[in-house]
Amino acid sequence: MGVTIIRAAPQSQIDPQSQMEALSKYALRHLRPHQVIGLGTGRAASAFINALGRSLIAVRGVPTSRASEELARSLGIEVVALADVPKIDLDFDGADEVDPRLNLIKGYGGALVREKIVAASARKLIILVGEEKLVRKLGARGNLPVEVVPFAIPLAARKAAALGLKPAIRRRDGADFVTDNGNLILDCAVKEIHNPARLDRDLRAIPGIVGTGIFAAMATVVIVAMKSGEIKTLRAR
Ligand code: A5P
Repeated sequence: MGVTIIRAAPQSQIDPQSQMEALSKYALRHLRPHQVIGLGTGRAASAFINALGRSLIAVRGVPTSRASEELARSLGIEVVALADVPKIDLDFDGADEVDPRLNLIKGYGGALVREKIVAASARKLIILVGEEKLVRKLGARGNLPVEVVPFAIPLAARKAAALGLKPAIRRRDGADFVTDNGNLILDCAVKEIHNPARLDRDLRAIPGIVGTGIFAAMATVVIVAMKSGEIKTLRAR
């Protein structure tokens, strides 16, 4: 993996919001007018969508959630469906964990399945994160989100537990959290994941599991806002 430091600023000038704004502005350099881009979900992705709206660069966006679609439309960004475009040039998204090989955990925001579909449709996946998301091994933050068809929850939970995970249905505001696809999320307590691709494959083999938050070998570039104020670019080799 190559690492490039591209900018430095004194730490005192950087708060988390400004960090995300700086990251988003930098990420815009990857874009060319009239490209088709994936619009991720979450704080980093929203900061990017806001920066894109302000930039007035004419692109078409494929959103990964209703929330991102709404935000993009409110900023005058042209929104298109996956079915309407032959390809996606670049996908910009956040992540919950990034390991040294640029494997990711995503889905703390619940949009993992559409995020993975859009990422897999894109020529390049560009991830925007703060330094706190960099981990030595995936699983370090203790959670792996998995999206499950509601009917399959008992089976999926039992089989996930047999794989050594501790699954619990995600709740929000006193009710089960329902994804944009009408499914539920099992938040699986995990320890360090030694083989992310294998765990992803084993979980997806369970009937009713639609997708996991493991994005193995998908990211092309990870742009990191360091606590020092630097911005680092990590590239997959
Ligand atoms: C949404 O489902 C997630 O995958 C987000 O992309 C991820 O959780 C990162 O979100 P933040 O940028 O809000 O931390």
